[in-house]
Amino acid sequence: MSIILSLETSCDESAAALVSNEKGKIELLANEIASQIEEHSRWGGVVPEIASRRHLENLPFLIEQVFLKSKLQLKDIDAVAATVTPGLAGSLLVGSITARTIANLHQIPFLGVHHLEGHLSSIYLGENYPSPPFLVLLVSGGHTELIRVDAEHKFQRLGRSHDDAAGEAFDKVARLLGLSYPGGPAIQKVAKSGNPKRFLFPKGRVSKPEGGFYPYDFSFSGLKTAVFRQIDKLKSENRTFPLEDIAASFENIVAEVLVERSLRCAHDQGINSLVLVGGVAANERLRKMMLEKASENSINVSLAPMEFCTDNAAMIGVAALSRLSSKNYQSSMELGVSARWPLEKSDLLYEFDPPF
Ligand code: KG4
Ligand code: ZN
Repeated sequence: MSIILSLETSCDESAAALVSNEKGKIELLANEIASQIEEHSRWGGVVPEIASRRHLENLPFLIEQVFLKSKLQLKDIDAVAATVTPGLAGSLLVGSITARTIANLHQIPFLGVHHLEGHLSSIYLGENYPSPPFLVLLVSGGHTELIRVDAEHKFQRLGRSHDDAAGEAFDKVARLLGLSYPGGPAIQKVAKSGNPKRFLFPKGRVSKPEGGFYPYDFSFSGLKTAVFRQIDKLKSENRTFPLEDIAASFENIVAEVLVERSLRCAHDQGINSLVLVGGVAANERLRKMMLEKASENSINVSLAPMEFCTDNAAMIGVAALSRLSSKNYQSSMELGVSARWPLEKSDLLYEFDPPF
C-alpha cells in the first residue's frame, strides 16, 4: 500500500490530503481545505500577494489536521506531492517548498503535480469513471479545455478557450451583476428562479483565418460584453432589473455551448465516454444538461463528485499516486514552479533534468 501526503496551493484554496492506493483501490484518508474566498471576495477576485501569505499561514495547520484525523504519522507516508503548475507562482512556491522540505527531511520521494492532471484525477474519487479512451471537459476559473485521454498520462488537447475561461466568465458577469466572488455559485443561486430563455446571449465562436470556425474552441469575452450591454440598456430604460433572468440566461448559454461542443467533439472523435471536471463542473444546470444531451447521443458521462470539482488536495494526491504506482515516477528536488505549462508535457515534471 502507498500513502501520499498531497498539497494544493495554486490559487485561493490552501489544501492538504492523505490518499492511499491499495492494489488500485484509491482511498481518501483525510482531506482538509482552508478557503480564502471570503478575504479575496472583498476585492472582487484573487489578490496574489494575499493568497501566498495565507497559504504560508494555513499549510502547517492543515498538514497537522490531516495527520490528526487519519491517526497517521509522517513516518507512515511513502511520498509527498504538491501542485507545481499552472497557477500563481508565489502561491505554488509555498506548497512546493513545503513538500520538498518534508520529502528531504524524511528521505521520501517528491512528486510535482500538474494542476489539470489533478482535476482530471478527481473523477477517480467518485464511483463512476471510464477507461481510456475518453474525452474530458475541464472547466475551471483558469481553463476551458477539451482533452482526449488515450492511455494513462497520455493527453491531447482538442479544444480550448481563446480568451476568458468559463469560470472566469462566471466571475466577471457576477461582478457586473453586483454578485459576490466567486461568481459561479452566486450566479447559480439567483439563476434558479430566473427565466433562462428571456435573453438570447451569443454563443461565442472562434474564426479560423482561412474561414469557418474552430469547432471545439470557446470564446466567452463577447458573451460578457453582451451581458454588459444588456444591463446598460435595461438601466438606461429605467426598467425593473431582472437579475434572475439575466443570470439564468447567461448560465444557460454557457452550459449549452459547453455541452454542444463537447458532444460534437466526442462524436467526431468516435469516443463514447465523456468526463466533466473542474470548478464549473459543480454547476447544476451544466451537470443536468450534460447528462440529458449525452444520453440522447448515446454517450456515457462521468461527473466529478461535487465536493471535488473545485480546488482540493485529494485530487492532487490521486494524480500523484497514479504516477507513483504506474512507473514509479518521482520529481527532481530541483523542480521549481511555473505559472503555465501544457498538460501534454506533464511527463517532463518527472524527468531527472526538470523543465523549470
Ligand atoms: O477549479 P477551480 O476551483 O479553480 C481553478 O482551478 O480555477 O474553479 C474555480 C471556478 C471559479 O471561477 C468559480 O466561479 C467556478 O469555478 N465555479 C462555478 C461553480 N462553482 C465554482 N461555476 C459555475 N457554477 C458553480 N456552481
Ligand atoms: Zn483548479
